[in-house]
Amino acid sequence: MAKKTKLKLGFPGHFKQVAVSLPAGDPVPWEFDADLKVVGKRVPRVDGPDKVSGKARYTFDLRLPGMLHAAVLRCPHPHARLRRIDTSKAKAHPEVRAVLVMEEKEYRFAGAEVAAVAATTLAAARQALGLIEVQYEKLPFVTDPDLARRPGAPKVRTEGNVEVSLETRRGSVETAFREADAVVELTIRTPVALHTCLEGHGSLARWEGDLLTVWDSTQAVFDVRDSLARALKHPPENVRIIKDHAGGGFGSKLQMWSQTPIAARLAKLAGAPVRLLLSRHEDFLCTGNRHSSVQTLKLGASRDGTFKAISWRAYGTGGIEGGAETSRAVDGLYRFPNLEVHEENVYTHAGPACPMRAPGHVQGVVALEAAIDTLSEKLGLDPLEVRLKNDPSEIRKAELSVGAERIGWSRRGPSGSNPGARKRGLGVAGTTWDGSGLPGPEVEVSIGAGGEVTATCGTQDIGTGTRTILAQVVAEELGISAAEVTVRLGDSYFPYSILSGGSLTAASVTPAARAAAAKARASLLRFASKELGDKLEDLECSDHQIRVRGSNRSLSWEHMAQDTPSGRLSFKAERQGNFAGFEPAAAGCQFAEVEVDTDTGEVRVVKVVAVHDSGRILNPLLWESQVNGGVIQGISFALLEQRVIDHRYGTVLNADMETYKVLGALEVPEIEIIPFPVAAGFNNTQVIGIGEPAIIPTAAAVANAVANALGVRIGELPITPDRVLGALESHAKGRR
Ligand code: MOS
Repeated sequence: MAKKTKLKLGFPGHFKQVAVSLPAGDPVPWEFDADLKVVGKRVPRVDGPDKVSGKARYTFDLRLPGMLHAAVLRCPHPHARLRRIDTSKAKAHPEVRAVLVMEEKEYRFAGAEVAAVAATTLAAARQALGLIEVQYEKLPFVTDPDLARRPGAPKVRTEGNVEVSLETRRGSVETAFREADAVVELTIRTPVALHTCLEGHGSLARWEGDLLTVWDSTQAVFDVRDSLARALKHPPENVRIIKDHAGGGFGSKLQMWSQTPIAARLAKLAGAPVRLLLSRHEDFLCTGNRHSSVQTLKLGASRDGTFKAISWRAYGTGGIEGGAETSRAVDGLYRFPNLEVHEENVYTHAGPACPMRAPGHVQGVVALEAAIDTLSEKLGLDPLEVRLKNDPSEIRKAELSVGAERIGWSRRGPSGSNPGARKRGLGVAGTTWDGSGLPGPEVEVSIGAGGEVTATCGTQDIGTGTRTILAQVVAEELGISAAEVTVRLGDSYFPYSILSGGSLTAASVTPAARAAAAKARASLLRFASKELGDKLEDLECSDHQIRVRGSNRSLSWEHMAQDTPSGRLSFKAERQGNFAGFEPAAAGCQFAEVEVDTDTGEVRVVKVVAVHDSGRILNPLLWESQVNGGVIQGISFALLEQRVIDHRYGTVLNADMETYKVLGALEVPEIEIIPFPVAAGFNNTQVIGIGEPAIIPTAAAVANAVANALGVRIGELPITPDRVLGALESHAKGRR
């Protein structure tokens, strides 16, 4: 039976009693100001020493005895059919142990898999690829989404290249635009960007009879298990996926990519373990990207800045698959009584898109926040005031005030009013993201015969610190330190968990960990009460014992564990459904100050102030690390990143770390992070995810700051020097 009660939710000055229905048997949420000993503390990563000493093993570090190395032959053409393939010379290579030709005989992007080879060395595998004789029939292709939209363009799929991905209508935008005092319209373009994980994509597959084990660079061991089982027509219970440590994913490791089944099939053919690690070049071509966008927004408001209507028409390309959508944040960030959305996904002969850190939101917020600044300018209003007027979130409004103070918003002058060649500007943008968690994950907490505490869950730590927060939550409940909890994760043979995406992990697994640890504690107390003959309320759980308050009598966990047939006490709990929260999602906002050199066109971000809430902050160290990462990746998207395709040949020109530019250490500005703790509700630890919210507003705030500095809007990301100079030039011409 669910328990109906009231919780004090909100934040200082804005607390309210909210009726909630707590899941049966779930621990009561920790209060906002609960006196916690481990949770909320700056506990360093429990796997930090392993990572810095090289002891932590990533997929790329793994080796098995007798292991073979694989390489993949890829189609060099954006669209082609296989005419003929002859692998006999490759098979005859003395070091080659297996050759595989893909079933697919039509290739729809340059980089698609044609064949694969496993050999005793990587050099031999690559050499053997050169021995495969292939004849392609080249087919018409289109990689430019603007051309792909035209009638008569080469078809990427038989149904046509354009697909409506989202269509929404509310109220009457036509009437509202007519009645508005000011209406602006603008078009913003964003490029295809790449995830650029430190750790690329790789798989190591081993068969032992019918049991297939794959060490895979993934954010989702259970999903890869199911996808691989389907691909191989093998029972999922005989497929085990392991991911011990990960060097980031950002969404590019949520789904199974082809290297996993290729490694598994080669291993089967060769009768030996096979490791297939993609090179950075392959990674950039084949393992997903952030889709591009061309967004035309029309925004209308009354004289005082109250939004009346928005029209959002957008298209973008996700290549051969992955989709394109940008308007998802429109309803969470600001109130729009009348709204019309029409979004299209354009198929092109290019590598597939997939989720990338706050998919759609990052692109959409750039356009939305640009429209708001443009409209504010037209109305002669302070863009911050306009946002405050239309923001539905009490949390974000408070955050905007704090952030404005920290960046010194009152210094912001009218756009383009800065004299001199180096012009400074300020910009702001908001975020909304629902990372309040999902039910389903299970955590097992056990106490061994030596009193050791272990928490086990099939979730994965993609570099965010999941291991550490699980240790903290279990430690808190049992009255020990985080270092005294061993966390085992990243294995589909462990209790079930969801994928590590959508910023869902912290809010989905820590409540299960807490529930399991609470069960353990309750059971230890009951056991001790029976054994010692003391009342439950006189007992306390700490220091690996149950102690009788005010006496020196106690019973050790060790003793209790040894007293069971297995020598081990173990307790499992499942994450229950969400209960009511204070607001529907996490809020947050960022302010950016930039300096633009109008002689060179160079943009330098001087400072970013990031104010974020995510319910309870379980570990400020890890939390700040997420915000830093989001801001850095956001600036990188605003100023540098873009996958470049030569549309004449349909091939990517910069699929390497030298020419695909990402922000370097010297370009990282001062980042001031302001945590905004909230009693958020939703789950028993009251945590919400921060991974994705942290990147959403950055590029938008930077772009707005550049527009404020110059008095000219650069309508296309990345904001490169040539675009800055070009925009300044056409602006000057327009004025003459
Ligand atoms: Mo995230 S794009 O769901 O890893």
